Amino acid sequence: MIVEKLQLQNFRNYSHTDVKFFSGLNILQGSNVQGKTNLLEAIYFCSIGKSLRASREKEIIKFGENFAKINLEIRKKVKKTAILLYFSKNTKKTVKINNIPIQRISELMGEFNAVYFSPDELKMIKEKPEDRRRFMDIHISQTSKQYFYLISRYEKILLNRNKLLKSPADKNSIKETIDIWDTGLAESGSKIILFRNDFLKNLKPYAEKVHQYLTSNKENLMLEYSGEKENDLDVLKKKFLSALKQNFDKDIKMGYTNYGPHRDDIKVSVNDIDIRSYGSQGQQRTVALSLKLAELEIMYQETNDMPILILDDVLSELDSKRRERLLKFCVKAQTFISGTDFPELKNAHYYKVENGTIKLDK
Ligand SMILES: Nc1ncnc2c1ncn2[C@@H]1O[C@H](COP(=O)(O)OP(=O)(O)OP(=O)(O)O)[C@@H](O)[C@H]1O
Ligand SMILES: [Mg+2]
Repeated sequence: MIVEKLQLQNFRNYSHTDVKFFSGLNILQGSNVQGKTNLLEAIYFCSIGKSLRASREKEIIKFGENFAKINLEIRKKVKKTAILLYFSKNTKKTVKINNIPIQRISELMGEFNAVYFSPDELKMIKEKPEDRRRFMDIHISQTSKQYFYLISRYEKILLNRNKLLKSPADKNSIKETIDIWDTGLAESGSKIILFRNDFLKNLKPYAEKVHQYLTSNKENLMLEYSGEKENDLDVLKKKFLSALKQNFDKDIKMGYTNYGPHRDDIKVSVNDIDIRSYGSQGQQRTVALSLKLAELEIMYQETNDMPILILDDVLSELDSKRRERLLKFCVKAQTFISGTDFPELKNAHYYKVENGTIKLDK
């Protein structure tokens, strides 16, 4: 899959942009605060239908304007697809695929697959389990609409169950009515656990291999899902229901649900050391990168089509050896990579990003 063309209108600091890209390496060079991250954000927006950066979606509309537009043209082998996102200050965002409006964001999943890495992704290693769950959820949603649906269903049921746990009603009447949420939670939650186990099982060998490659065989990466590892759906459901029953008193006391995939995590260690607590900055960054590059590989296998790779400001904090190896790895996919300066590379296209404009440099 490749991005052939991007048009932006009033997107962050871009007024009007119309730019063509090439297969292979597309290098976005520019000083700080010029619009490199903004442009990569726009491309990734078309992949997952949201921004990982904007806390309020409307903040992407250029200051002083009333609407913004992203128009992306992609090609999968011979099939061309146009994705249009339209944001307005006053109405809901609209998404069109080949000019046909879609009703739900889930319809966008799988149209345009991309793997995105930015300095913020370091959160995935350093911070809360929530960031690692997000990593799994975004990946699996891109390759399975069913999963996307399961996650939103699970979240809705969880919200209702937690509301009930917090309600002023007495414990016995809560106990009587909670069954309906428990059944729904166990039903969708068990499937989520199966999907995630599967994902990690596939990711693990690639992540370990890529990490060895990036670190010149100096580091061994280990990944492990912290949740249930059972792979029989019925057994999982039974376990789920009995764990909910067992935790009922604790849940009531705390006002939320203690058991379930919304509490799960990925344990990440390097050379048997917990990387979250003890890893160096460069080491954590390399681990995050290994996970992303492995994600690229398995997405390729799952979809039979190479996703695009977006690497925002990734080279800082990597030593020259790791940089060199990373750039070598990138030739596998159409890659967008941004930074302030790059070495001369063969077969790469260089773009200059300056004050909300982008143009092909050489
Ligand atoms: N809605 C908006 N309207 C206009 N400008 C915006 C909007 N949102 C962000 N910007 C501007 O975009 C600029 C930042 O762009 P961006 O983050 O893409 O920079 P960058 O080239 O990635 O820089 P760095 O190298 O520091 O990461 C800032 O000047 C910011 O004010
Ligand atoms: Mg940036």
